[in-house]
Amino acid sequence: MTAHTKTVAAFDVDALRAEFPILSRQVNGKPLVYFDNAASAQKPEAVIEAVANVWRTSYANVHRGLHTMANEATEAFEATRTKTAAFLGAEAASNIVFAKGATDAINLVASSFGQSLKEGDEVILSQMEHHSNIVPWHFLREQKGVVIKWIPVDENGALDMEAYRGLFTERTKFVSIVHMSNVLGTANPAEELTRVAHQHGAAILFDGTQAAVHMPVDVSEIGCDFYVFTGHKLYGPNGAGVLYAAGDWLDRLPPYQGGGEMIAEVSEDGVVYADVPHKFEAGTPAIADVIGLGAAIDWVNALDRTAALEHERSLLDRAEAGLSEIEGIRLFGRTQNKGAIASFLIDGAHPHDLAQLMDKYGVAVRAGHHCAHPLMKRYGVPGTVRASFAPYNTADEVDAFLEALHKAKSFLI
Ligand SMILES: Cc1ncc(COP(=O)(O)O)c(C=O)c1O
Repeated sequence: MTAHTKTVAAFDVDALRAEFPILSRQVNGKPLVYFDNAASAQKPEAVIEAVANVWRTSYANVHRGLHTMANEATEAFEATRTKTAAFLGAEAASNIVFAKGATDAINLVASSFGQSLKEGDEVILSQMEHHSNIVPWHFLREQKGVVIKWIPVDENGALDMEAYRGLFTERTKFVSIVHMSNVLGTANPAEELTRVAHQHGAAILFDGTQAAVHMPVDVSEIGCDFYVFTGHKLYGPNGAGVLYAAGDWLDRLPPYQGGGEMIAEVSEDGVVYADVPHKFEAGTPAIADVIGLGAAIDWVNALDRTAALEHERSLLDRAEAGLSEIEGIRLFGRTQNKGAIASFLIDGAHPHDLAQLMDKYGVAVRAGHHCAHPLMKRYGVPGTVRASFAPYNTADEVDAFLEALHKAKSFLI
């Protein structure tokens, strides 16, 4: 249990902020307003301490040691697996594989599952995918002649579910969809997407990189085959990501990478793989980072999550209300069911110029294509400005962001 559970009765944002040392710094002589959380979130003291303590007091390689520190490190590392399983509502810790991040986890599934695919087999993606859930499937298109089909996204930023249902054929083997868009904030209907995929005998993966941060996730309720997320957006370290695989998928899939840790026995004639999930964790893992992810999950669990998510949502509403009043504004992602991510453009102002000028006022936002070229193409824009919110952000920061945006705009137009 961390300190903020004692101090945050309803939702005490000041107490929460005090846990994030970086939030008190200045940028360009102004108090930092950090609205780039969807790219990577800041870290609470509990996570910083957990990682530093590994390096300071209990660092050793995991799994194969016969000494005390190796056992301590292994225990702490495996404890994160148990916490991650509980966080996602997974059946067991053995359904969780640690990867470098969401990108790595999706590559694992595409590469391993992809081995069974043949020319003409079909994979369904959506127009709102992050490149990390597109490029690994393009590899299979290039290498094997797999066909990629695309679920269209409507003007408001919702998936066209009717079109989705129409994409299936008897060759459809896999569906891979973002649970929450990193550009639009749209939360996609995971249970319905899963139900339809399974009706057609296709497996389904959700890229939960943003969803795991901005909404409660329960993979057993969704019923999906695979779910991935990344630690650094969940207030944890980078270098630690997660793949959940339902049921006996990990037993059925071939390993992704070969090396130490993923074997039971190696001879000149062959190899016997380690039991799952270790079969998918070749080489020395990101030990301190995975332990830090465990601390991040503890930290999130200790939050009043409902209050924290409502707070984020109120920041989004305040920001979108202010943005709507700006002449020439175009807001992307207008569905009701969305996470705390606001994307926009202003006529006549390049997103990069706006972001760079806002930085002069201490406001950190992201501008560009957000690793989502097909979505940018769908909307006919080169990029957007994106402000993404975390529970440690405040209404005053939203006002400072709007003020900086007005100043930046008046400089450019
Ligand atoms: C929706 C989504 N998927 C995947 C990723 C990739 O995450 P990582 O770089 O941690 O692998 C991101 C990162 O921005 C994302 O927002």
